[in-house]
Amino acid sequence: MVAREIIHGVHWVGAVDFDRRIFDELIPLPNGTSYNSYLIQGSEKTALIDTVDPTKEYELISNLVKLKVDRIDYVVVNHAEQDHSGSLPMILEFFPEAEVVTNEKCKELLIAHLHLPANRFRVIKDKETLSLGDRTLEFFLTPWTHWPETQITYLREDKILFPCDLFGSHTATSDLYVTDEAGIYRSAKRYYAEIMMPFRNSIRGYVENVKKLPLEMIAPSHGPVYKRPQFILDAYADWVSDAVKNEVVIAYVSMHGSTRKMVDHLTDALINRGITVRPFNLTHTDIGELAHSLVDTATVVIATPTVLFGPHPQIVYATYLANVLKPKMRFATVIGSYGWGGKSVDMIVKMLDHVKIEIIEPVMVKGLPDETTFKALDRLADDITKKHRDNNII
Ligand code: FEO
Repeated sequence: MVAREIIHGVHWVGAVDFDRRIFDELIPLPNGTSYNSYLIQGSEKTALIDTVDPTKEYELISNLVKLKVDRIDYVVVNHAEQDHSGSLPMILEFFPEAEVVTNEKCKELLIAHLHLPANRFRVIKDKETLSLGDRTLEFFLTPWTHWPETQITYLREDKILFPCDLFGSHTATSDLYVTDEAGIYRSAKRYYAEIMMPFRNSIRGYVENVKKLPLEMIAPSHGPVYKRPQFILDAYADWVSDAVKNEVVIAYVSMHGSTRKMVDHLTDALINRGITVRPFNLTHTDIGELAHSLVDTATVVIATPTVLFGPHPQIVYATYLANVLKPKMRFATVIGSYGWGGKSVDMIVKMLDHVKIEIIEPVMVKGLPDETTFKALDRLADDITKKHRDNNII
């Protein structure tokens, strides 16, 4: 996609990938994505902020050629993951004078992943600055805004923040700026759930620090640029807070209908008690939508049939994912049906060792649920309601 000027001397020169449908062979991308790279031309030096996915490196080079860029002094690398760094080898070949500007940890990862020569690096430390003449770049180390080496870059005179993954969204659009805040809110929240949520506690501090900077724009490396930074900063402040909503996510699989009957009964019982319910049939669910719902739900119910001696493999996958994404949920429980026995509850609870949760008494039934089962599910709905009320979630 064609390069565009953000302000005089600062251009978006990245690539938009409308066709990409999966990231890291894990994360579905219903709206594609973009790899944003930014060219900053100072009175003395020129810097490129991040590159693009290697599948799009010719688009980046083409944008630089069309802008008649004949020299790049610095390539700032905020993050070593290849969707931002993968075009570095080609950029360093095209611009043999360019230095890679990044922190020590990122240098180590770039050498490991891309086999870049060590003599092409200029290593910076937290809060260090780099002059481009009439413009100044300031670097802030923000480890674990995805990987351990991540940093963000601030263009001081123009008050633009380049945070790479942080504040981004997997959105392919021809719009340079956010034009639909509601749509981007949803996309950015899903992105936060998939990429940032495990690092919520560190990110809370980074958001506070960013809020102290004078800001005109936030220009992430995925999705459109925020001309109203407060919008995404407020959204992040909410997502990283400890506050949860009066919601229950039910992740379920049903093989012959018994677990489904239990899910339907519990859903109605919770709705009747004033709780919002988000059921996900894992055989059809976009896992990104499930992650999105985990951002601020108070309770998760895992509903599984028994396959041989344990939970259904789709349930194992979703439970593993929920555990590593570390949502701020407070309570969890298990419901489901079995044929002759099994250890589904124990296995699921053991898998949730990364989340600080209280387990509410599960409901497991042999075969088809009956009136006794439905009474037990009503008791479970009462227990969940009481937990929410006692913790001021209702
Ligand atoms: Fe967009 Fe962590 O890479």
